[in-house]
Amino acid sequence: MTGSDGIVITRGPGAAGRASGSSAADSTASRLLRAGEYYDGDAQEGSLRPRLLHEFQGQKDVRDNLSVFIEAARSRGESMDHLFLIGPPGLGKTTVAQIAAHELGADFKVTSAPALEKPKDLAGILSTITERTVFFIDEIHRLKPAIEEMLYIAMEDFELDWVIGQGAAARTVRIPVPRFTLVGATTKAGMVSSPLISRFGIVLRFSFYSRSELASIIRRSAGILGAQTDEDAALLMADCSRGTPRVANRILRRMRDFAQVAGSGRITRAVVEQGLERLGIDSLGLERYDREILSSIIQNFGGGPVGAETLAISIGESIDTLEDYYEPYLIQCGLLQRTPRGRVATDKAYAHLGLQRRTGNADERLLF
Ligand SMILES: Nc1ncnc2c1ncn2[C@@H]1O[C@H](COP(=O)(O)OP(=O)(O)OP(=O)(O)O)[C@@H](O)[C@H]1O
Ligand SMILES: [Mg+2]
Repeated sequence: MTGSDGIVITRGPGAAGRASGSSAADSTASRLLRAGEYYDGDAQEGSLRPRLLHEFQGQKDVRDNLSVFIEAARSRGESMDHLFLIGPPGLGKTTVAQIAAHELGADFKVTSAPALEKPKDLAGILSTITERTVFFIDEIHRLKPAIEEMLYIAMEDFELDWVIGQGAAARTVRIPVPRFTLVGATTKAGMVSSPLISRFGIVLRFSFYSRSELASIIRRSAGILGAQTDEDAALLMADCSRGTPRVANRILRRMRDFAQVAGSGRITRAVVEQGLERLGIDSLGLERYDREILSSIIQNFGGGPVGAETLAISIGESIDTLEDYYEPYLIQCGLLQRTPRGRVATDKAYAHLGLQRRTGNADERLLF
């Protein structure tokens, strides 16, 4: 789900100039931003992405810990320890990586594990970084083994193992690399090897945002977008944002459109109520696919358990999207359970969809 962010960089407001780092690294879809320049990622998200730690709302533990580690590294004039970020899509991993670089006054280098095909791709990037650079690898669970091996040495010894020559004449030389901070992000911590995780000095886990945290993100974003928003409208948008800032910002933008075209331009509770209905977002923030997942488990598989693969096929989605994007929030809402035998719809899911579970029947067929 990390999609295009992580590999596209444009210049943000206040940046001194366009990133100029072109190198072999460009062929691996990585980009270098000099200290003080901003990573916008997706242009839609860019303007709303917090640049500094104090603009980053919620995730108190992440913020508090990070501020200590940044402050300590900054006062020693050293690179910060390697940082591992875990959490569902849209909760702020890329944002935190960029904030770390900016707060440290360091360059920011971005790539994504699938873009690193050969060890030379990684070597190309590491040979262009400067001292204290924050090097962000998105989707780090998708690193190839040979690249992971190379990264171990770079992370621990700040050296690169490089093979020169071929066959019997081949020999390995160790090339020093500047002391950098690796920031690895993943939505699937379970798929990252333990040798890799153990090389990160700092591990931060993101959790879904609370209603009040999302409301303050919406207020901040509305201020940046110049969209007048009533307080009760902000709270309603927060309720329907799946605990996720990216979704909150997306809903805010759409409501701004509705308010502009169909209303006075002001985002009121009535505008949000109508807008959510038009977008097919319900009171829990579920979208069409969320409801399809639940109704498929209930109607096609007797409420479960059903394997993730079968479920993904039945709703026409990839298993990655099912597991990374849809399931965490459904589980968080208490609508879905992951069991060793497969996915199960809970009583709350039946109630939310207005369906009844037939009791006393092994098949758990439905009564409509
Ligand atoms: N704590 C926050 N405060 C304010 N806005 C936030 C916060 N976290 C995220 N956002 C907003 O949400 C958007 C998505 O965040 P980000 O790109 O950092 O998520 P991510 O965890 O990297 O997602 P993915 O796994 O899909 O790459 C950002 O552009 C930013 O505008
Ligand atoms: Mg990201």
